[in-house]
Amino acid sequence: MDLRIAVLPGDGIGVEVVDASMRVLDVVARKFGHKVHAEFADVGWAAIDKHGTALPASTREICQRNSAILFGAVGLPDRDQTLPQKERPERVALLELRKGLFANLRHVLLPPGLASRCPLKMELIKGGIDIMIIRELTGGLYYGQPQGISGASPDRKAIDTLAYSEQEISRILKVGFETARKRRKRLTSVDKANILATSQLWRELATAMGKQYPDVRLEHMYVDNASMQLLRRPSDFDVIVTENTFGDILSDEASMLAGSIGLVPSASLGEPGAPSVPFYEPIHGSAPDIAGQNKANPVATILSVAMMLNYTFGLSKEAAAIEKATFGVLNAGNILTGDLGGKATCSEVTDAVIAGL
Ligand SMILES: NC(=O)c1ccc[n+]([C@@H]2O[C@H](COP(=O)([O-])OP(=O)(O)OC[C@H]3O[C@@H](n4cnc5c(N)ncnc54)[C@H](O)[C@@H]3O)[C@@H](O)[C@H]2O)c1
Repeated sequence: MDLRIAVLPGDGIGVEVVDASMRVLDVVARKFGHKVHAEFADVGWAAIDKHGTALPASTREICQRNSAILFGAVGLPDRDQTLPQKERPERVALLELRKGLFANLRHVLLPPGLASRCPLKMELIKGGIDIMIIRELTGGLYYGQPQGISGASPDRKAIDTLAYSEQEISRILKVGFETARKRRKRLTSVDKANILATSQLWRELATAMGKQYPDVRLEHMYVDNASMQLLRRPSDFDVIVTENTFGDILSDEASMLAGSIGLVPSASLGEPGAPSVPFYEPIHGSAPDIAGQNKANPVATILSVAMMLNYTFGLSKEAAAIEKATFGVLNAGNILTGDLGGKATCSEVTDAVIAGL
């Protein structure tokens, strides 16, 4: 198969971790008889310095003509401060490239060999942690209108609008059920149906859709309870599906359970056949404190490549091979980067994953 990918390393460690994951992808592609067509493009400060904008037209074009985008990270805090909020690379590049991608998936998996890195007590995590969080990404409070601050102090008023259509809710719930069906067949739908109208509609639609998925065990949970249960009994969660704001908060909370921010991959997906291009990235930023030193943990980006093979190209065996080799290295525990208490470099971890392949 021809794997056509737009590759956007961006800033800071984005460059190192994307380079590492492309090395892994090349090896997997060769092993399974695929051909990688990678088109590299500038984004973030790397693009501002060359083209005067964080997202040049040439980068958009490259993204549009490929089947998937592999993204590193953008933003450098010292330089970001010199720009107004809405012109900063994270806003300009990410918002634009993720337009239309309504499903954000984060895979939080604690390798058993790294259990001691999890902030929870051993007795709470002995059942393991393997959670797929699915967050609605294009609706809800972040986009609802009206939104803004009006009036003069001391009588100013601020308003945000939480709105969801039936169609927006149904399409993300479907991603939730389909994902659960391919995993351990448990879906937790998180809402606040005791208070919010959007959540009442959400729960009604989730219950109705559940009838089409009799093999998936559906559970409803209020968001306040979900935030507590994630810390109390994380092993009981398989797939979580929720709206934008709740997902933003819960996915950050859950990411901590993986042991390091350097381990969590993500995918942002749109409707099949829609013009938006699926977007794969580690959840971490550009980490300027360790950039350019070969210290970054490449695992989150390598696992993002595995998600890309799975979701965009339907290559589940290839994805599984990457995951097996990566978790093999993590569980062995002797070649780890600094964020996991080790001394290995980004390149050494990547070499070990490749050796495992
Ligand atoms: N999607 C994105 O492009 C994205 C996401 C988050 C932050 N950012 C941007 O990145 C810049 C830095 O942000 P930040 O410092 O708040 O968050 P960060 O994720 O870059 O770093 C937070 C801490 O985690 C460490 N860390 C992160 N990833 C690591 C990895 N792979 N291996 C080892 N250690 C790792 C860093 O060294 C740092 O100490 C900012 O400009 C921010 O706007 C971009």
